[in-house]
Amino acid sequence: MENVINALNSSHRSIETPCYLYSVSQVADNFNQLKSALGTELIYSMKANNNIDLLMRCSHHLTGGIEIASIGELNSVAGGNSEKYINNPSADKKFLRAAIASRSTIIIDNLTQLTTLETLIGKRPLKPILLRLNPCLLKRFNADIGKIRSDQFGMDWDTTCQAIDFCREHTIPLAGFHVFNGSYQFTANAMGTATAALSIIQAIEKRYQQPLSFVNLGGGFGEHWQQSDFDFQAYRELLATFPEHITIAHETGRGLMASAGYFLTRVRYIKNIEQQQYAICDGGMNQNFLLAKTENSFRRFNTPTLWSSSPHQLKNSCTYVGSSCSKDDVIGKQSDTDVSPQVGDICIYDNCGAYNASYTLSPFLTLPNAKTFIIE
Ligand SMILES: Cc1ncc(COP(=O)(O)O)c(C=O)c1O
Repeated sequence: MENVINALNSSHRSIETPCYLYSVSQVADNFNQLKSALGTELIYSMKANNNIDLLMRCSHHLTGGIEIASIGELNSVAGGNSEKYINNPSADKKFLRAAIASRSTIIIDNLTQLTTLETLIGKRPLKPILLRLNPCLLKRFNADIGKIRSDQFGMDWDTTCQAIDFCREHTIPLAGFHVFNGSYQFTANAMGTATAALSIIQAIEKRYQQPLSFVNLGGGFGEHWQQSDFDFQAYRELLATFPEHITIAHETGRGLMASAGYFLTRVRYIKNIEQQQYAICDGGMNQNFLLAKTENSFRRFNTPTLWSSSPHQLKNSCTYVGSSCSKDDVIGKQSDTDVSPQVGDICIYDNCGAYNASYTLSPFLTLPNAKTFIIE
């Protein structure tokens, strides 16, 4: 936040709103901290923030590679040197062909993808693949694991066995597997997942009759993972019991990007409807759908930090609304102990670096897209 305030102090006139502001050094700090807390490779999941300027500025920090979920994402990073992992259950022939051509590691979700892949290999060398395992396998290999939400991704054990056999019969190189229990799920099931993974490695190696080399244990880190009381040391000790020939990785989008991004809007008008003060801003749910909290059963709004060119001390409660005609376009609230906004103030929402820019509504009303600014 200090860096954002400094950027506004020095160049607020050149910052067009609504906009996103991303901090390269915050991404780098988050990456280094999480990588050393885990003691493993750390892959960046591009879906959280696909802003290419940001990714280019961060690429030398993100040393564990990048997880890509669409051909569009692949095209935008195709020229880069990062290790690329392709992971999407609906990846089609075209995507698989592009994945082979770009020397990416393909994460296979189902048997049809695997048999399709086999038809595409031809003379091109294929990087050893990973099998995406459905979380139901964790329960199968560790009966003590906590509750895991079922999902549609990856393969159950019978299908995994068929995939392993297919790899063996068609000499498709198999590096290992990938599991993902869902966003925000890391602390609940990390130990149980790693315990299951140890047995799964043994079972797959036995069936494949060759050693594996790579296991991605997923992620699910929250935006404030640094503040959780998860015992990372005990976790690292458990991971140290994995066979030496296995490289362990985790992946995250939110854990790197969320706290590195800010959403900025300017107050255009202030008005009162009876006792309620509203700040009407130049951006809202169109550019930052998640701030409107319409997907939450209880809408608990964020309170922006105000940057003002003429600070004052008046206090008032206020509801911050955006520029669309939806009555759900409310993106912030403050209580009467907070300093009241003035026209021209810039409202700064923190923790907007992951999903806020991409998971949004912008074509509605042909309102402007948010601009992007990148700071060190
Ligand atoms: C397979 C996979 N990996 C990683 C992620 C990134 O999750 P997060 O941004 O919560 O770390 C997702 C999110 O949907 C995912 O599906």
